[in-house]
Amino acid sequence: MTRARQLLAQAARVVVFTGAGVSAESGMPTFRGAGGLWKSFRAEDLATPGAFARDPRLVWEWYGWRRGIVASCRPNLAHVALGRWMLRREGVTLVTQNVDDLHERGADEAALGLAREAAAARVAPIRLHGSICHTRCARCAVRAPLAGPVDATSLATLPHCACGGLLRPDVVWFGESLPEGALQAAFAAAAAAEVCLVVGTTGAVYPAAAVVHETRGAGGKVIVVDPGETAYDDVADVRLWGAAGEVVPALVAEG
Ligand code: APR
Repeated sequence: MTRARQLLAQAARVVVFTGAGVSAESGMPTFRGAGGLWKSFRAEDLATPGAFARDPRLVWEWYGWRRGIVASCRPNLAHVALGRWMLRREGVTLVTQNVDDLHERGADEAALGLAREAAAARVAPIRLHGSICHTRCARCAVRAPLAGPVDATSLATLPHCACGGLLRPDVVWFGESLPEGALQAAFAAAAAAEVCLVVGTTGAVYPAAAVVHETRGAGGKVIVVDPGETAYDDVADVRLWGAAGEVVPALVAEG
């Protein structure tokens, strides 16, 4: 812990790379761990463009269920600690694979008297896999926030765009490319960082998982926080075995 805190304190630029594990203590299921989504659901039926073309109602039903979980969750101590840390110091870029909005809500809670918008802007994550709180039109690609439940009882009740196109969750599905700008921004921040702090990801899904290797390839250090094994364990300079909600607040605490 001391070594990791030293590395972070000495670094002018840090990239924080998070996965589903950072939201686990808030009640969000992970994907591959015990009780992970891909243990009970088939990604090819729910999280591919083909699945949406075949049965948009089923896909929306599943994403509606997941949106319900996100809405019922609160940011945990890791989200809030990261938000507070990023508001207190310069030079930290947050890159997330998560589609929930718990980092933003964590920043809200940590806003230190700053206006919500200012705090959210300071801590806004680079989103590599999109957002479950937004939609994208399958026809004209317009993006928009989506509040409230989705009625997935029939094709007609599903959310539609003003252009008449069917709206889909604004998330990156298997077989789809990541938002170009986001990926480039994440790689650039990672290559320029002296330290990459990895929290709660197996590092199994590329190209997102390459972010960590961008830092390492540029001579930077890697700190991994996770209670389980990850694909980064061999390249970690410091390995902190534990839950994000316990380790991260101590890691980024002031003083
Ligand atoms: N604190 C920290 N890490 C945790 C915690 C916790 N409380 N609980 C579980 N973890 C760790 C697990 O040990 C595991 O290493 O979180 C990680 C979750 O890994 P995955 O389920 O593989 O999720 P993630 O790495 O985010 O998946 C990457 O895969 O399915 C796609 O698009 C989806 O963004 C996702 C991507």
